[in-house]
Amino acid sequence: MDLSLAGRTALVTGGSRGFGLAVALRLAAEGAHVALTARGESALQEAAADVARAGAAARGAAAGRVLAVSADVTDDAAVTGAVERVTRELGPIDLLLVNAGGPPAGNFADLDLAAWEGAYRLTVESAVRLCRLVAPGMMERRRGRIVCITSVSVRQPVENLMLSSVLRPAVQALVRTLALEAAPSGVTVNAVAPGFHLTSAVERLITRKQEQTGASRDDVIAGWTREIPLGRLGEADELAALVVFLMSGPAGYITGQSITSDGGWVKGTF
Ligand SMILES: NC(=O)c1ccc[n+]([C@@H]2O[C@H](COP(=O)([O-])OP(=O)(O)OC[C@H]3O[C@@H](n4cnc5c(N)ncnc54)[C@H](OP(=O)(O)O)[C@@H]3O)[C@@H](O)[C@H]2O)c1
Repeated sequence: MDLSLAGRTALVTGGSRGFGLAVALRLAAEGAHVALTARGESALQEAAADVARAGAAARGAAAGRVLAVSADVTDDAAVTGAVERVTRELGPIDLLLVNAGGPPAGNFADLDLAAWEGAYRLTVESAVRLCRLVAPGMMERRRGRIVCITSVSVRQPVENLMLSSVLRPAVQALVRTLALEAAPSGVTVNAVAPGFHLTSAVERLITRKQEQTGASRDDVIAGWTREIPLGRLGEADELAALVVFLMSGPAGYITGQSITSDGGWVKGTF
């Protein structure tokens, strides 16, 4: 299938590892120009080199350009500067992946107000900030795709993930509402809601669970996979394939949706 992504400009936040990097690799293979942001400079530069290699391997001389811009999504000036630089160097942003690290794990009793405020800034405010900076230009040009990475917590609370379970649904509501405003211009806004995928974030959750319970790594993973009908954790590239499809030309009639990728973990009918 031709995804019509060649020559498009993509901004992938949280692009140095995990889902963000997996999406960036696929976009480069489709011939898009890809800008990556994250905080850690050296991992970001390594990721950009990998993404450039993926583009060159798939497209040769027709590969898109790759740009790495260090920015914390909670820092207004840094994100504004990053969007301006991407626009200047790669062109107006056609494809936006809203993504960063997840809010910290914890139960209600573990979390003070500062933790709630930090999680709001990381999860909700950063999504609003990115959409404010990028969506108006897309709507003006009547072209664009926004995809937000949320979590299965938008559909069912996840044990020990109080902050995610409360705040991710706000991002889902942003997606649903902004999609309505963007629709007349043909711009689509969607979310993907991952269950357990083996990324560095989940490796950290495994370590935390091991420390809390004394269980082995295999036992922690087995505890989760027992609840997953497909019997395994997902791969980052499986979620990336879904994201890249939602960013593609053929996905132009899908907007305001939240698509779950969880091996069947959520048991609700809808
Ligand atoms: N993996 C899963 O199974 C799963 C399931 C449900 C939801 N999710 C959610 O999906 C998102 C991505 O998860 P992942 O597994 O890919 O995580 P990951 O492997 O930890 O990658 C997170 C990426 O975001 C960057 N990042 C973190 N905080 C940032 C900040 N404040 N500003 C800018 N960049 C930041 C990281 O780089 P720096 O640290 O260098 O900035 C890294 O590039 C998270 O929100 C996570 O909660 C993941």
